[in-house]
Amino acid sequence: MLKNKIAVITGASQGIGFAIAKKYVENGAKVINYSIVPSEKVVEGIEFYKGDVTDRAQIKEFYEYVKNKYGKIDILVNNAGVTKDALMSKMTEDMWDFVINVNLKGVFNMAQSASEIFTEQGFGNIVNISSIVGEYGNVGQTNYAATKSGVIGMTKTWAKELTRKGAIIRVNAIAPGYVNTEMMKTVPDKVLDPIRQKSLLKRLGEPEEIANAALFLGSDMSSYVTGHVLSVNGGLVI
Ligand SMILES: NC(=O)c1ccc[n+]([C@@H]2O[C@H](COP(=O)([O-])OP(=O)(O)OC[C@H]3O[C@@H](n4cnc5c(N)ncnc54)[C@H](O)[C@@H]3O)[C@@H](O)[C@H]2O)c1
Repeated sequence: MLKNKIAVITGASQGIGFAIAKKYVENGAKVINYSIVPSEKVVEGIEFYKGDVTDRAQIKEFYEYVKNKYGKIDILVNNAGVTKDALMSKMTEDMWDFVINVNLKGVFNMAQSASEIFTEQGFGNIVNISSIVGEYGNVGQTNYAATKSGVIGMTKTWAKELTRKGAIIRVNAIAPGYVNTEMMKTVPDKVLDPIRQKSLLKRLGEPEEIANAALFLGSDMSSYVTGHVLSVNGGLVI
């Protein structure tokens, strides 16, 4: 489904990003994982490039490298994300800035440079990883919710902006529910158990289930889908 496609995925060393990278490679793509740390698991077809989504100079260098090596970029998956949770009354400016910088500005940084290449090529595809928290909010996640709602706003804006001159550039987002990754290990069972019970499928999601959605949006299977937010949450909210 992704034969000969070149995909850049941020934060693909573990969790959801790694599952997407693996899925893309299995379907014929070459993946470049732009991340601050390498993956513990080496997979043929996934190349690691050490980089930070908050560092705009590094991002410019990175895209130059990819363009020179592969000649094009087909897909950008903005997956890298962090949390620093606290109730609003206890949230420090540092906690706010940290999450905003990675999850919101980082997505903007990566997409802004990619969009130049996509516009020049006349084609491209952006898949942004938002969250159920960006759709509906969550106690203790003011900063995170702001970024993930912001990602939805940027997704719709870029879908409109980047097609203005006739380029075929699709931009969509995935809003996962609660998925079994390292990020969830910081959440206690007393919070996760009610979520399992409330979801219609009575469990958390698996990274591969988000990867399946990313495969759909990253491939021509979704050729008439753009500006869309695909919720993948086991029916936790419908
Ligand atoms: N796990 C969930 O339940 C869940 C739910 C909804 C949305 N999401 C979103 O899915 C995405 C992946 O989540 P995950 O659970 O796999 O997280 P994770 O913590 O397992 O992985 C995050 C990855 O991002 C990388 N990263 C962090 N900061 C970076 C930076 N500044 N520059 C480059 N890379 C950076 C990390 O090295 C890591 O590889 C995130 O955007 C997250 O907000 C996760």
